[in-house]
Amino acid sequence: MNAPAAQPHVPASPHVMNTYGRVPIALSHGQGCRVWDTNGKAYLDALAGIAVNTLGHNHPRLVPALQDQIAKIIHTCNYYHVPGQEELAKKLVELSGMTNVFFCSTGLEANEAVLKLARKFGHDKGIDNPQIVVYERAFHGRSIATLSATGNEKIQKGFGPLVPGFIRVPLNDIEALKKATEGNPNVVAVFFETIQGEGGINPMRIEYLRAVRQLCTERDWLLCIDEVQSGMGRTGKWFAHQWAGIVPDVMALAKGLGSGVPVGAVVAGPRAAHIFQPGNHGTTFGGNPLAMRAGIETIRIMEEDRLLERAAELGDYLMERLRAELGRHPGVREIRGQGLMIGIELARPCGVLINRAAEAGLLISVTADSVIRLLPPLIITRAEIDELLALLLPLVRQFLAEE
Ligand SMILES: Cc1ncc(COP(=O)(O)O)c(C=O)c1O
Repeated sequence: MNAPAAQPHVPASPHVMNTYGRVPIALSHGQGCRVWDTNGKAYLDALAGIAVNTLGHNHPRLVPALQDQIAKIIHTCNYYHVPGQEELAKKLVELSGMTNVFFCSTGLEANEAVLKLARKFGHDKGIDNPQIVVYERAFHGRSIATLSATGNEKIQKGFGPLVPGFIRVPLNDIEALKKATEGNPNVVAVFFETIQGEGGINPMRIEYLRAVRQLCTERDWLLCIDEVQSGMGRTGKWFAHQWAGIVPDVMALAKGLGSGVPVGAVVAGPRAAHIFQPGNHGTTFGGNPLAMRAGIETIRIMEEDRLLERAAELGDYLMERLRAELGRHPGVREIRGQGLMIGIELARPCGVLINRAAEAGLLISVTADSVIRLLPPLIITRAEIDELLALLLPLVRQFLAEE
């Protein structure tokens, strides 16, 4: 049965707060890269719950591991040692080349901790008014501090006064960064997404990443990277900044880390690992045994099934096909991204494509008004990529023909 006609912004329920303009379907179950709605209609999932369902749905090794953990213990709280925290932290340290981890539950929480770490780094060296460099079009979350760091007025509107202490600069412009911070002794950190997700799949260039790393080292600033969306294998490396061969001082993770179970993490290197001391930061849910098991099993399965290689290889294939099919079309501005994090920027807003794709049996998102965003589970197969293209391309061509 087909989904009802598209009706964006219809409140889903009289009792749930109206914070999302939802696609008028409800998903009831999934298998691999396929999900079904409550009417039994099937969809190919090219969104993965916004870069969360790394292993797709109902994964045959993840689900029994989580069931086993639930039957043992779900939550204990951080008054006690949680062995899974040490195991997952050790793994993240090994994969990142950094040294210590703080666990939380979401992306904004990880970023909030990054901002606190950066400020305390400053205070510890006598800077009473620490300032953090952030970027145009950035997205770091919707708490008051993270929306203040976010570079999108729509997200900030109505929530002022914003948190002070941010200096905003354009992407990929090292001279602009130097100029904005010139002679300012209060700068403590630079904070960005390696590939901006919500801002429209905007990558930081490799030379820029290297130059910022060097500047941070020279000036004793912390290099803080938000890998919430671009991390956990999505681009074909564990963390997208690894394409530039750099190591940050602080890194935020969430989304794909728990393959659907809420897990966030702040990973710190030697310059930042000992800034927080008991009493400086905490969270009730962060690092609970279920969350840790989800993270440990997600990484184990990713390694066993070589999902990084798959993301890189199938991402290249998808990018090539998209560029070949749409790249020269006048209504298409640019097709960009890395691995399985791809944006197709059109010349005009294209939010209607979300509902049209759902009607056609495909889940996608549109971000920054005019960028079609593809973030499929990392278990996607080449045949499923072909299916994705077969569903998406006619919709985009039809949309472009309507101009
Ligand atoms: C780069 C980035 N940082 C932070 C967040 C916020 O994460 P959460 O929604 O888990 O708070 C997001 C969410 O889209 C994100 O893409």
